[in-house]
Amino acid sequence: MHLLPFHRRPLAISCFLGLLFGASFAQAATPQRHAFLAGQHAKNGIACAECHGKTRPVKVDDSEDGVNLSCVRCHGTLKEVGAKAQGHVNPHVSHLGDIHCTACHSGHQGSRVYCANCHGFELKIPFPSTSLATAQAAPKPPRPEALRQRERADVVVIGSGAAGMVAALTAHDAGAKVVVLEKQPITGGNSMLAAGGMNAAATRFQAKKGIQDSVELMVKDTLTGGKNLNEPALVKILAEQSAASVDYLTELGADLSDVGRMGGASVDRTHRPQGGKAVGAHIVDVLRANAAKRKLDVRVNSRAVRLLENRQGRITGVLVQGRHRGFYRIDAKAVVLAAGGFSANPDRVAHYQPAFRGMTSSNQPGATGDGLDLGATAGGVLKDMEQIQIHPSIAAGSRILITEAVRGNGAILVNRDGKRFVNEITTRDAASKATLAQPGQSAFMVFDEGVRQSLKQIDGYFHLELVKEGATPEALAAAIQVPPQALKDTIERYNQAVAAKADAEFKRPDLPRALATPKFYAIEVKPGVHYTMGGLKISPRTEVMAKDGQPIPGFFAAGEVTGGVHGANRLGGNSISETITFGRIAGAEAAAAARASAKP
Ligand code: FAD
Ligand code: SIN
Repeated sequence: MHLLPFHRRPLAISCFLGLLFGASFAQAATPQRHAFLAGQHAKNGIACAECHGKTRPVKVDDSEDGVNLSCVRCHGTLKEVGAKAQGHVNPHVSHLGDIHCTACHSGHQGSRVYCANCHGFELKIPFPSTSLATAQAAPKPPRPEALRQRERADVVVIGSGAAGMVAALTAHDAGAKVVVLEKQPITGGNSMLAAGGMNAAATRFQAKKGIQDSVELMVKDTLTGGKNLNEPALVKILAEQSAASVDYLTELGADLSDVGRMGGASVDRTHRPQGGKAVGAHIVDVLRANAAKRKLDVRVNSRAVRLLENRQGRITGVLVQGRHRGFYRIDAKAVVLAAGGFSANPDRVAHYQPAFRGMTSSNQPGATGDGLDLGATAGGVLKDMEQIQIHPSIAAGSRILITEAVRGNGAILVNRDGKRFVNEITTRDAASKATLAQPGQSAFMVFDEGVRQSLKQIDGYFHLELVKEGATPEALAAAIQVPPQALKDTIERYNQAVAAKADAEFKRPDLPRALATPKFYAIEVKPGVHYTMGGLKISPRTEVMAKDGQPIPGFFAAGEVTGGVHGANRLGGNSISETITFGRIAGAEAAAAARASAKP
């Protein structure tokens, strides 16, 4: 049948097509459904089939890939829509990368701006929802044996952050049939938000800059930062494999050529893209592109609800709840759990650390700790659960992390009296504690144009209007309401320390540049829940350990869902390093376990 272009198609034809293609159109055409996008499309003469395809009955896959292709066909790609849109904050141009339209826009229910999970700015969306919920409440799962919908894979990976995607790519490249499950409508997890960089020792990029570093020094810094609660064998792997992990990402297409410093490191070892761009969005883009190139089966809106096991205690698959498909099971020869931490779950955080109740968090909304329940229910041991990290610099009144790299590149922290109070690049626990002891329990991160120019990601804070400024230290002081003479004196004393290469007051070990280039800037920051060091106990081969001290067959874990690498306090930059290194190990081990279980 020859169809007229959408905008010229009469409603009668659309109604006919609606009847032909199933119930969705009829639902969309009821008065209540007209409130949503589907109804609007119907009013404009656009039939169900134009969005949903010409299958019968009308089906939407959990990832909503088909519907998204339809959105793109009519409206253009996200990039094209972003280029046309106007306004100071343009949600179609975002660090979340090339995400599906349906991450925000819904046809048959209220739409919600995904960015509003973290950002406070007002963004309009057609047919808004009043709720920010990103996943449906889980009805009681059925018994897995009763499920008729059943699939098979060699390896199922739970979580699409850096650890999960790297594990999946590695297992795929080792010949395994892999499925990646992600409960959120977008991939990337917290990894997508990573800012300051990825730590690695003795890399080719350090060598190019003449930076002397070693595996031993990275081990020492990590153990000291973690108060020696870390598992030394895991720390050794982290440091030993870190340079290879930088090379691995570089081979996949990442740029990690800029090297700076973060808290607790003895030398510059934090790798990030040139110019100091945020590391996470870049790495996730690269991992997504590699997954697409390999046609990896990555499913969003797909929550792992339970792990399946046989009578011998071997993990044999996953019970999944898909947004549209409902419950189904994937039988697998190995499962990699990479479901991240729980900093975005205030109740769970308060359970382990009552003092942190009510604090803001830097994390994405999916960081609720489901992985810990999945792992523990399957017999995994949890360790160090009360070790929760607060990051000293979340922009006051927001969930936006101001990367430690700003301090690493030269910013100082001052209190409301305009005075420094801490070595700004100490470990996070120490910097947070010192900040909470100041009047108002907050601080101002103060820097100049020189620091701004050294780190591209600072532009984002200006864009989000988080920065106050002044042409002189006194003018800045007036803007942030601290005593002008005190701030001027503080900056002068700091600059003298930089010139003398020694900070007698606070023993800051690295003084990269004086704060002397106007303008002068400040962001008010407060500590917020950032990272959960505790999690599933793993072996050096990423096997999940049971109470009897033995690994659970067929079950591997990597990334923030595990405990032991960081001890009592993680160093900035060590998590992305962990996700890549242990993601690679988990992927290889899971593929090997799948191969071994296939042997007669
Ligand atoms: P994630 O990237 O969080 O991925 C886990 C995924 O699993 C999520 O997408 C989640 O939705 C999904 N999931 C959870 N439960 C289920 C389920 N039941 N079924 C299916 N999917 C599920 N670290 C550094 O080293 N350097 C940095 O510069 C840095 N900056 C950071 C900045 C911010 C703002 C934040 C929040 C963290 C930062 N970190 C940084 C920490 C680091 O980003 C994370 O610890 C790391 O990315 C975790 O990776 P992951 O793969 O383990 O988990
Ligand atoms: C930051 O950039 O400050 C966060 C880095 C990290 O969590 O490792």
